Amino acid sequence: MGDEKALIAVLRGETRPAPPIWLMRQAGRYLPEYRALRAKAGSFLETCYTPSIAAEITLQPIRRFGFDAAILFSDILVVPDALGQKVSFESGSGPKLEPIETPDHLNRLAETFDVERLSPVFETIDRVKSALPADVAFIGFCGAPWTVASYMIAGQGTPDQAPARLFAYRHPDAFARLIDKLVDASIAYLARQIAAGVEVVQLFDTWAGVLPPSEFDKWVVAPLQKIVAGLKEKRRDVPVIAFVRGAGAHLPDLAARLGADGLGLDTSIDPKWAADRVSNNVALQGNLDPLALLAGGESLDRQIDSILRVFEGRPHIFNLGHGILPETPLEHVSRLIERVRVGRR
Ligand code: CP3
Repeated sequence: MGDEKALIAVLRGETRPAPPIWLMRQAGRYLPEYRALRAKAGSFLETCYTPSIAAEITLQPIRRFGFDAAILFSDILVVPDALGQKVSFESGSGPKLEPIETPDHLNRLAETFDVERLSPVFETIDRVKSALPADVAFIGFCGAPWTVASYMIAGQGTPDQAPARLFAYRHPDAFARLIDKLVDASIAYLARQIAAGVEVVQLFDTWAGVLPPSEFDKWVVAPLQKIVAGLKEKRRDVPVIAFVRGAGAHLPDLAARLGADGLGLDTSIDPKWAADRVSNNVALQGNLDPLALLAGGESLDRQIDSILRVFEGRPHIFNLGHGILPETPLEHVSRLIERVRVGRR
């Protein structure tokens, strides 16, 4: 099997006696050491742009739990920030951006994306790289164009991204220009993260599930295909994971068409249904319910075991079906890791 890091080996199609494990949002509010650092630092974006602090937060979950991968501490909304849209995070109420209400407002954005505006992120990556244990993989990320555009247009989180869906119906050409701009920015940004030292990248399409099929193809599948192809052209060796939340029945098609090495499964996907329909050359990642992890107890054990059983013998990365919840007890996370690694005898 060689001594390749477990996460990378699985993304190349190998199987492991126990799957590698990391958790979406593993660097975050459920950790007391994160809350302590955040209380001392400035705003959330300042925290993201201060390499010494962002690097420390990236490493916190590795020190405490020994996950198989570290994910860069940053946010998907640094890209609109770098494009010149004002972004802020208010505690408790989530992100706030100056909304894009008409096609004219798109002219407020920078003509082209200047990747070096995010240079603190690359310095963070450099710092983490030199502090990471040898067997821990380093994941970079960005938001997928549809998800990032949906925040750019609404200016905040919404239950169903209605503002972006309406904008795309009313102004399809202007919306396509925004998506194209985000495709180009994502390729440049991820390529630069890779140059700085990340070894795997994940694309987060958190809001894919709100789109009807015709729109799904235009705003989710096509842009993700372009990003994967653009990255593979530059760095064929770097694995790509796509987390397309709410993909549902589109999943087998995504596995066949995106060109990604791994696909994230959200909580709603039946693991067996996915395993039966996705070929073994695409790793599957997921998909424990974050609420089961919060609840703990027997229902947690049962859900862990059933996920492990279904994916046994095929490339699998253990993860949640969405981000870890801030109220999650630390003991439940330790218990999860122990139980997943029992097979690593
Ligand atoms: O996963 C990690 O640990 C790495 C860091 C990371 C953050 N955000 C830190 C963060 C990652 C990968 C993200 C991705 C992200 N950001 C997504 C896609 C994944 C998902 O969870 O759906 C989205 C949609 C965002 C946008 C965003 N950032 C929202 C809607 C919010 C507010 C709501 C919330 O969950 O807190 C954020 C803030 C944010 N991003 C926090 C963290 C740790 C909390 C900020 C704080 O400390 O107060």
